[in-house]
Amino acid sequence: DALGVEHQAIHIKNDALDHKTKLLSGSKTRFVPLLYYFFSSLHTHLLIIWRNLPGPKMKDFAIPCKSWSSYYNRKQHSAFRAQELCGARDQERGKFIMLDIKITRTTAPKAKPDESNLGFGKKFTDHMFVMDYTEGEGWHDARIVPYGPFELDPATVVFHYAQEIFEGMKAYRTADDTVQLFRPDCNAKRFQDSADRLCIPKIPVEDYIQAVETLVDVDRDWVPHSDGASLYIRPFVFANDVGLGVHASKHYIFCIICAPSGAYYAEGINPVRIYVEDEYIRAAPGLTGFTKCGGNYAASIKAGELAEEQGYAQVLWLDGVEKKYVEEVGSMNIMFKIDGKVYTAATVGTVLPGVTRRSCIELLKDWGYEVVEGKIAIADIMAAAREGKLEEVFGTGTAAVVSPVKELVWKGEHAYIGDGKIGPVTQKLYDTMTGMQWGKIPDTKGWIVPVEKKN
Ligand code: COI
Repeated sequence: DALGVEHQAIHIKNDALDHKTKLLSGSKTRFVPLLYYFFSSLHTHLLIIWRNLPGPKMKDFAIPCKSWSSYYNRKQHSAFRAQELCGARDQERGKFIMLDIKITRTTAPKAKPDESNLGFGKKFTDHMFVMDYTEGEGWHDARIVPYGPFELDPATVVFHYAQEIFEGMKAYRTADDTVQLFRPDCNAKRFQDSADRLCIPKIPVEDYIQAVETLVDVDRDWVPHSDGASLYIRPFVFANDVGLGVHASKHYIFCIICAPSGAYYAEGINPVRIYVEDEYIRAAPGLTGFTKCGGNYAASIKAGELAEEQGYAQVLWLDGVEKKYVEEVGSMNIMFKIDGKVYTAATVGTVLPGVTRRSCIELLKDWGYEVVEGKIAIADIMAAAREGKLEEVFGTGTAAVVSPVKELVWKGEHAYIGDGKIGPVTQKLYDTMTGMQWGKIPDTKGWIVPVEKKN
């Protein structure tokens, strides 16, 4: 019996031990997944916390759209907007989501110009967009008002030190009466790069696009109906502090004006003659060549006038250090087709990164052409012409679209290109670019953004 009792006691002890072991191993197997769950879902919890912070949310950046191409573009724009605003939130500026644009319509609409004789940038629409910047307050008071002059103090900074930047874009009317833009996000982004170099406060990409779209929508009737004509859009910012000290202004005005326009060159799509400038320069490393600032253009006028006197449409600028390598034309970038390959200057700080340039390079690559972006010596181009290998030369730009060149003159030597007519690659680029812009061919690249009717 005593043995029996002892056995029982041992059993009970063993059972208790088993139970303890079971308990222990059970809690271990429960603890590990718990830890795993906590760490694996940490990001979700952080996201929930972030979403509940005051300020802009990702969903606020979604903008309704009609087509897939515009969906793609708007998605990109929304991403830009998200970046901008989240950056802005850090600076405690991101309280707004979209600009609140006040619209005051003209009571005296102007007569529309004769579309057969528009010229370039001569007549302006009924309205303009204006927004002010004040240090400490940021960009404010976005408005569309009747087109008209600014009243500015004679000591306004921009008159003296040219703290100013601009952009060039177009709105196109398609056969079904849609009004559309071409890659507006690229212009908006470039505007920011120009602003950065000129010490001008940046405008968020989405605000820039909203301002352009709203003005084009208000002046929709001004978008020309005739073939080859479009509404040229000119956004610009200028410093309007009053005073003669040389420093970044504390006040700016962002303005957008629009001009129904035809071809930039009187020649239209007919090839132009270009003078290769070997005395004056347009840009040098470290300067402002990559920006669209008024000063670049002011400095180019003298050479342009001299070239025009000799019957040349524009000058081709060489690099500012050695005057050996081709850069750009000023109103357009330039490309050379030599022995089957297309060459153009790299955009390394002294050359404007053109939206049309970039689009043409993409198209050329899609079509299987090798495109070389680099240092191209003018001497090599002239030598190629002598050897009969300079097949095509063309400029690319918003205003100029795709513009064939029939002749170059450098230090008295003339290079004649092709038979003086537009070459096949230039023609194909022109047809494709203008085809997409005017909605005659499908936009396979997602570059077109229709302007919705809202106002
Ligand atoms: C443009 O192509 O939009 C330009 O800005 C060039 C201009 C100077 C006419």
